[in-house]
Amino acid sequence: MTTALCPGSFDPVTNGHLDIIERAARHFAHVVVAVIHNPDKTSALFSLEERQEMLADEISHLENVRIEFSKGTGLLVEFAKEHGAEALVKGLRAVSDFDYELQMAQMNQRLSGIDTFFMPTSPEYSFLSSSLVREVARFGGDVTSMVPPKVAARLAAHFGRDG
Ligand code: PNS
Repeated sequence: MTTALCPGSFDPVTNGHLDIIERAARHFAHVVVAVIHNPDKTSALFSLEERQEMLADEISHLENVRIEFSKGTGLLVEFAKEHGAEALVKGLRAVSDFDYELQMAQMNQRLSGIDTFFMPTSPEYSFLSSSLVREVARFGGDVTSMVPPKVAARLAAHFGRDG
């Protein structure tokens, strides 16, 4: 009965993230989505609470999925242990994701014994990233096929394009 942790910044959650979370929920008994403040990312758009709210709206139909958030002051593997997760799940969009993800997976395994499971992103989402969605929304592009409707509305409101 393995619990898996799906970590990320989720700033904001995209359809690509939701694809990975929904598929992970079919393979693991429990999934904890960890919304993490990454201190290296100075370009955060939404607060941790806003990111958590947007995610909660989209995963409420998944009974074995819950959300936790971290202010990013400790190691991911310690956070995983605190929340009873024995595995990490990461989506891979392209080969370019692989080098860094492999290194993190090996470091996390060495530190804690926690294994990482990589899941290929569905091809229709392989170009998606939160940072590109933020950029497109900032310049008035249409992101409605890339994020849930409520997230698109929040982006439009944030950038003053809600009417
Ligand atoms: O959505 P992101 O920003 O790509 O997620 C990256 C995240 C938060 C999963 C990654 O930066 C992370 O694991 N941070 C926690 C700090 C940590 O444990 N670092 C060592 C990992 S080898």
